[in-house]
Amino acid sequence: MSNSDYSKCPSPVKPEFAFIGRSNVGKSSLINMLCQRKNIAKTSVKPGKTQLINHFLINEEWYLVDLPGYGFAKVPQKNRDEWKYMINGYLLNRINLICTFILIDLRLPPQKIDQEMIESFGEQALPFALVFTKADKLKPAEVEKNVAAYKHFLSESWEELPPLFTTSSEKATGRDEILEFISKTKKVFNAEVIKQKLP
Ligand code: GTP
Ligand code: MG
Repeated sequence: MSNSDYSKCPSPVKPEFAFIGRSNVGKSSLINMLCQRKNIAKTSVKPGKTQLINHFLINEEWYLVDLPGYGFAKVPQKNRDEWKYMINGYLLNRINLICTFILIDLRLPPQKIDQEMIESFGEQALPFALVFTKADKLKPAEVEKNVAAYKHFLSESWEELPPLFTTSSEKATGRDEILEFISKTKKVFNAEVIKQKLP
């Protein structure tokens, strides 16, 4: 199901995990990799492919959510404002959202726009984990070095580091770790509490 309005998303009676990050960072590819499907989430070499909030029901049990990316230079201000409105509406009101994975391109040094996104999760007390993408495009030693540099960067503003995953959608790296994390954390979902919050 695809929506621009959080209130029209599927009834929040199942636990949910979302994927957010810059345009082209590999959100849709990661979702396909986790699901072992080629194209359930539409991907593109051009940034800006995903435009709506896309729900995928997994094993009739929980939702994966593919979100449109941020930070693409060619996007006009009006569309940026619309993105913010849609995403904030979703993140702040989706009562079954257990955790959001913020995707980071491991090939680049820490980017301001990602830092702002991470900080906004912190300020709003929204649970998140970080996923480094496209690890196959780096040598193993570079992966190690860049992960260490990112951890160092995070430790300047965070006392405790969030869960971190290094992934490649090409090579299925990090798949088991992310699915294990989801399987563990979705146990905090309490259907009874959610039902009480429903209109
Ligand atoms: P938007 O929907 O535009 O925000 O982008 P997205 O974050 O969903 O990115 P998408 O999954 O569409 O991938 C963008 C491009 O990066 C595509 O050409 C993918 O094939 C490529 N890509 C994504 N993940 C990986 C990866 O792990 N390794 C490599 N080598 N390429 C990747
Ligand atoms: Mg996408």
